Amino acid sequence: MTQFSRRRFLSAAIVTGASVGVALGSGRTAFAQADNPRGLTIRGDEFLLDGEPFRILAGAFHYFRTHPKDWRDRLLRMRAMGLNTVETYVAWNFHQPYEEKADFTGWRDVAAFVRTADEAGLKVIVRPGPYICAEWDFGGLPAWLLKDKDAPLRRSDPAYERAVDDWFAELLPRLVDLQATRGGPIIAMQVENEYGSYDDDHAHLEHLRDTMRAQGVDSLLFCSNGATQEALRAGSLPDLLSTVNFAGDPTGPFAELRKFQPDKPLFCTEFWDGWFDHWGERHHTTDPAQTAADVAKLLEAGASINFYMAVGGTNFGWSAGANLTGSAYQPTVTSYDYDSPISESGELTEKFHKVREVLAKYTTLPDTPLPATPRRMPPQRVAVRESVPLMDALDALSTPVRHTAPVHMEALGQPYGLIHYRTRVRAPQGTKALRITGLGDRALVFSDGKRIGTFDRNQPDHTVDFTVADTSSTLDLLVDPTGRINFGHNFNDPKGISGKVLLDDQELSDWEIRRLPLDNLSALKFASGNTPTGPAFHRTRIHVDTPADGFLAFPGWDKGMVWLNGFALGRYWSLGPQVTLYAPSHLWRRGRNELVVLEMERTGDRIEVRSEPDIG
Ligand code: GLA
Repeated sequence: MTQFSRRRFLSAAIVTGASVGVALGSGRTAFAQADNPRGLTIRGDEFLLDGEPFRILAGAFHYFRTHPKDWRDRLLRMRAMGLNTVETYVAWNFHQPYEEKADFTGWRDVAAFVRTADEAGLKVIVRPGPYICAEWDFGGLPAWLLKDKDAPLRRSDPAYERAVDDWFAELLPRLVDLQATRGGPIIAMQVENEYGSYDDDHAHLEHLRDTMRAQGVDSLLFCSNGATQEALRAGSLPDLLSTVNFAGDPTGPFAELRKFQPDKPLFCTEFWDGWFDHWGERHHTTDPAQTAADVAKLLEAGASINFYMAVGGTNFGWSAGANLTGSAYQPTVTSYDYDSPISESGELTEKFHKVREVLAKYTTLPDTPLPATPRRMPPQRVAVRESVPLMDALDALSTPVRHTAPVHMEALGQPYGLIHYRTRVRAPQGTKALRITGLGDRALVFSDGKRIGTFDRNQPDHTVDFTVADTSSTLDLLVDPTGRINFGHNFNDPKGISGKVLLDDQELSDWEIRRLPLDNLSALKFASGNTPTGPAFHRTRIHVDTPADGFLAFPGWDKGMVWLNGFALGRYWSLGPQVTLYAPSHLWRRGRNELVVLEMERTGDRIEVRSEPDIG
């Protein structure tokens, strides 16, 4: 897939249903709080902050993708680039992976992030979604919304809107006192996200707007969309500011925005200065000089900007999303470096310097010296010490549940990880064709404990020969999901098996199902000796004198997940382009560190800690 082709695919697929009367200028409260000059308001085609002209020079930085002890560091780097505002999404599923309770502590303390930004001298734009896209699992929606795999999402559905309202009732009260209208740093919030690429259900957008207002959001609200009339019409509300997202030359996109909304400030709410990668694709980069030239043009046009992304981040753990292009499922890699001006590990790139030169013409740069690259570990290599085959550890990791038909992960209350299905096949002796429908996303197949094949959702017609020995054989399917789709219309993407398992077209039943969220590995019984092939857990120790940033590589290994001192770093996969996993300094301990690797296929002979990232 070429860069930005997802976008072209999208413009062809845009919903062009009902069009709305564009009653611009009729809005009162949303555009400008005439009676309250505090905060961000609009006068003609300019923004005012507390009544004074203000150009938004923002950058995206996702607090959920960077270790909280690095928030301040990265925010100061943004200031050093010349930015005056940080923009972040809020990822609902980061706070509420299980329906029972939302978490706002530690890494999930989004209000603390906003206050840290304030201390760093930055204003804040919050995009609370609830859908955020962002190459993040399920576009930020929590997996439990897929209990019913066909549940209507992102539209006027009572159950969906009830769940969103409950979530907003948890989230927004934590933010409202931090609004600029009340003396805080938050200057604006977004309603939904590029809604015009999904639907044109304006009643739903109005519901979100009204819920936000009712929760006390009195800041400027905006709708951001792709820069086409169709997307703007479908995804905007007449009383809210419309903004556009694009890459490259701003002339065309801003002309579209002007056509749709002639009399308001120009704001590119996502200026794509880089792009993300899927596994098995080339690594995407953009030319820093070209980026700087496009930014110069944008600022000359008097527009405001939000660099998407300003700061790279990481899809730690199971949080990476995926795309669907046609019928091709494309999982996103663990790094979200995005070729941003400030890299995943905090490096100030050539793009940082080029863009900073341009910004310097429009703003006063802080007169402090530029921050140095965060400290990195010296290289070292370690070997696996102990292992345990995953199939031997099922009892230690899970309790089985029984169901007649296979059940998908979300229906069992499991947000992420692996899921295992077992049945006893009783049939006349002989070899038959095994097939799965509704698979998310790969399944390792075992017959009486012996590995006999693999299913992949991208090969839906694939069959595996299954031989029934004597009167019965045990069939094991270990399903390995690689991220929920975060964009587009086919957005309901349940994991595990949501369809059928068929043997020569006969449906197999009576399943023992094990949830494997793998969020606690302490019960694993590792043993030294022979290193088993996958799927297996492997453990080793890494001695560190002084914790610093490290980059882990797995030469010779194929595909898996890594835990450093119990923290799930993310997936690696020999498909590339990403080679190393970023392990920030704060996850390391002085002295002995424990590394656990779940390898699905083949084990390499060593693990490397490197001093330099290699993301392709
Ligand atoms: C869109 C979305 C973002 C992100 C970018 C691509 O603009 O709004 O969340 O997915 O595409 O990186």
